[in-house]
Amino acid sequence: AALVAGAGLPAAAAPRDIGAAVRAALAAARAVTGGRNADYIPYLADVPPELCGVAVVTADGTVDTAGDTGYGFAIESISKVMTLALVMEEIGPEAVRDRIGADPTGLPFNSVIALELHDGKPLSPLVNAGAIATASLVPGATAEEKWRRILAFQSKMAGTGIRLSQEVNRSEQTTNFHNCAIAWLLFSAGALEGDPLVALDVYTRQCSTLVTCSDLAMMGATLANGGVNPATGERVIRAQNVPHILAEMMMEGLYTASGDFAFTVGLPGKSGVGGGIMAVAPGDLAIATFSPPLDDAGNSVRGLVAIAELAKSLNLNIF
Ligand code: DON
Repeated sequence: AALVAGAGLPAAAAPRDIGAAVRAALAAARAVTGGRNADYIPYLADVPPELCGVAVVTADGTVDTAGDTGYGFAIESISKVMTLALVMEEIGPEAVRDRIGADPTGLPFNSVIALELHDGKPLSPLVNAGAIATASLVPGATAEEKWRRILAFQSKMAGTGIRLSQEVNRSEQTTNFHNCAIAWLLFSAGALEGDPLVALDVYTRQCSTLVTCSDLAMMGATLANGGVNPATGERVIRAQNVPHILAEMMMEGLYTASGDFAFTVGLPGKSGVGGGIMAVAPGDLAIATFSPPLDDAGNSVRGLVAIAELAKSLNLNIF
């Protein structure tokens, strides 16, 4: 009998059209109104609120973008993931869990009450207190040495030279009184290494680098690819640390809305008050979105819509 090619075999799954999904997610996001730029950091209040971009980078390095993806925006809290990864490389995941924690705080990202409730232990490296404590653990005798390592690590994850915005940094350094109080509380509780003002300075700088959606998606893709940057081929993070980093993101990455994000999207993610969000589908791809207006929890309103749309259209929910 003649063999018919493909007969009796299951039909091959149609290849995903990630580009089309990215464009559809952008359209869905742009249709959304509401939210407000963060204004407690003066620089952020003045970023044009209509900007909106979406990028996807796959674990093998394919890039798809739509919208305002060339705009460099302040990374803000998303930098907490990179510094966490750096410190985990240095002291290991168990030491991070012991010293900082791996639980959601259930309170806003800059909460002092959360610290007071747990004897000064931050619970998560992805809230301000935990991130300042994490920054204090970056190796280096001086702020400059710590800073060089943090910037190099952000750059390795992005596969390109990431730069500090002097303007964002000035805006943050001259208004970060609340974080200064957190740094001293951590110090008084013995939850911070060295000089609290050095940790605060370094943390504030790490929040003040500029990234595009593509940079951010490549940073996420390094996590999606088990710690190897798919563009440069460099191993940036030990493979065994990646699940711990993603777990921290799942628990606290979108602050008090982390549970809601897990419920609706089902991906580890991390937001920043600059309007960026990074989400990771392990082994598959990473998404980065940017649009400045935020909801009450501090998450980009349009970014949440774009990511939910992509999680649905590309079937990404890990649960
Ligand atoms: O420390 C701060 O408050 C800012 N540099 C970063 C906070 C942030 O991005 C929280 N995000 N939702």
